[in-house]
Amino acid sequence: MDSRDAQKNKAELSFHDVCINFNFPAFLRKKTKAVLHNINFSIKAGESFAFIGESGAGKSTIGKIILGLYKPGAGKVIYQGLSLDSILTTKLSWYRGQCQSIFQDPKASLSPKMKIKELLTEPLILMKSAAKADYDEIIRIQLEKLGLKPVLLQRYPHQLSGGEAQRICIVRALLRNPKILICDEPTSGLDISTEFEIIRLLKSLQVNNRLTLLFMTHNIYLLPHIADNVGIMYKGELIETGPVAKILNYPKHVYTQKLIQSSRYN
Ligand SMILES: Nc1ncnc2c1ncn2[C@@H]1O[C@H](COP(=O)(O)OP(=O)(O)O)[C@@H](O)[C@H]1O
Ligand SMILES: [Mg+2]
Repeated sequence: MDSRDAQKNKAELSFHDVCINFNFPAFLRKKTKAVLHNINFSIKAGESFAFIGESGAGKSTIGKIILGLYKPGAGKVIYQGLSLDSILTTKLSWYRGQCQSIFQDPKASLSPKMKIKELLTEPLILMKSAAKADYDEIIRIQLEKLGLKPVLLQRYPHQLSGGEAQRICIVRALLRNPKILICDEPTSGLDISTEFEIIRLLKSLQVNNRLTLLFMTHNIYLLPHIADNVGIMYKGELIETGPVAKILNYPKHVYTQKLIQSSRYN
């Protein structure tokens, strides 16, 4: 194996026996709830990995751990060979740029009082990597790449359609030049044709920009369109992982079999 192959096969992000419990106030009879139980997976740079499972399975919690919003009670998260714990204490602002996210309700992620132009200028100011005079041009190029018209810059978030708002959230994320994009149910609030436009866009960003995608969904029919590999989540456990075609055609776990049978995929 030459060094390029070694690079290609190296994990960009991995979880090692990650567990998380949430504590409830003492007056509730149940004091702790195990939300993630011994989660192990490894994602390569430029790969698209989907987590699928019903509501409450723990998909968003995985995303929040990667974003540094929740701290695991046990286990390790490794990003580019470094422990996430140490990254969050010593390289936080670098990591914030590396790892971006989009969510189900794009308008909730955009401050309602700011025009789109201000919302897109914000990440550039934060990064301090471009001259102020270049901001407009950088934003214009990025909008064009995502099929958005410059006229949107003068609008407020409530004046956008759901699909436009999600594209603006994607532009905002891309302006920080991330390596990883966490997409937590990003199309769940959209109509089906807009959903597929966003899925195609994310797929092309993964392939053309070598972006690593983590895609959380409960919609099994999206898997062949977006993911290379998939992890099936069930009640806080990652019960089965593998290439999408293999899991869909030869599911091993009974829950995965049921999920496939009950979906529109069949
Ligand atoms: N901050 C929290 N405090 C207590 N329970 C939480 C918290 N965050 C998530 N949970 C619980 O963890 C479980 C998994 O939630 P989540 O990761 O959001 O699932 P999913 O995204 O798969 O729907 C749910 O039962 C949820 O209620
Ligand atoms: Mg969720």
